[in-house]
Amino acid sequence: MALLASENNKDVELSDPDQTKANRGTHPNCELQNSCSDHAVVSAFKQMKLEREAQKNWDLFYKRNTTNFFKDRHWTTREFEELHACRKSEKEQLVLLEAGCGVGNCLFPLLENDLNIFVYACDFSPRAVEFVKQNPVYCAERCCAFQCDLTTDDLRDNVPESSVDVVTLIFVLSAIHPDKMKQVLENISKVLKPGGIILFRDYGLHDHAMLRFKPGNKLGNNFYVRQDGTRSYFFSKEFLAELFEETGFQSVINEYVLRETVNKKEGLSVPRVFLQSKFTKLGHSQSS
Ligand SMILES: C[S@@+](CC[C@H](N)C(=O)[O-])C[C@H]1O[C@@H](n2cnc3c(N)ncnc32)[C@H](O)[C@@H]1O
Repeated sequence: MALLASENNKDVELSDPDQTKANRGTHPNCELQNSCSDHAVVSAFKQMKLEREAQKNWDLFYKRNTTNFFKDRHWTTREFEELHACRKSEKEQLVLLEAGCGVGNCLFPLLENDLNIFVYACDFSPRAVEFVKQNPVYCAERCCAFQCDLTTDDLRDNVPESSVDVVTLIFVLSAIHPDKMKQVLENISKVLKPGGIILFRDYGLHDHAMLRFKPGNKLGNNFYVRQDGTRSYFFSKEFLAELFEETGFQSVINEYVLRETVNKKEGLSVPRVFLQSKFTKLGHSQSS
């Protein structure tokens, strides 16, 4: 199944790469560069309210949608071979942090796929974390889910410093105000081993979801608010690379992934643009 859910706020990726036409490379919508940039932005007062209420808005999102909104992300092991390959032997346990785990659509396929991983999983929304803990696959020997605001709460309160091999950041950074993204990466960096890797996928610049925002939804450059108060940033390769490099990471791969999501029933086909990237944490000697 690959479709864009049709309700006004459901502009998330639900595509199964097996059933979408995939492509990679340069940005497809260069001619649309300015089409979304002319709208007046939402007032400073409303923007502050959205920032203050960000957690509440995500928690209400999960109250409304429970575990039924996002599809399980079975593609992660196919797209990110590091999820198996970065340990020296099969016997070695891989320690993962799933930052912004939602209700576990990435986490549980991973746990089912690989018996020898331990996953820390955190999210802003207490309700989402509760859904994770209630999942039948959840067990304390293999995962540890906790609530946290990645922009303010020190991850080391729940995850030992420099202990994590791989961090997954899947459609999470886009939900965070661009002024706070660097804090999130600094926070993650504290628990990641030197040489550890962040696997990233998120909305790319001029994705369909960005192009269909109406005037009145714009918060700033490439940053929009949905009707339910949750926000979404749309990343360019350059912006993302600079953000990570300023925070002590090195780019391994950073490319647009183009998908065509098809709803066969309704005969709809929608071009999507995602940014898929890998960054490694430089060791002390490398960063100085
Ligand atoms: C689009 S959902 C993606 C969820 C999950 N990664 C997935 O792939 O299904 C974005 C998630 O980011 C979480 N989030 C937003 N801001 C956050 C913050 N400051 N700290 C932690 N999580 C946050 C939201 O609660 C939400 O679950």
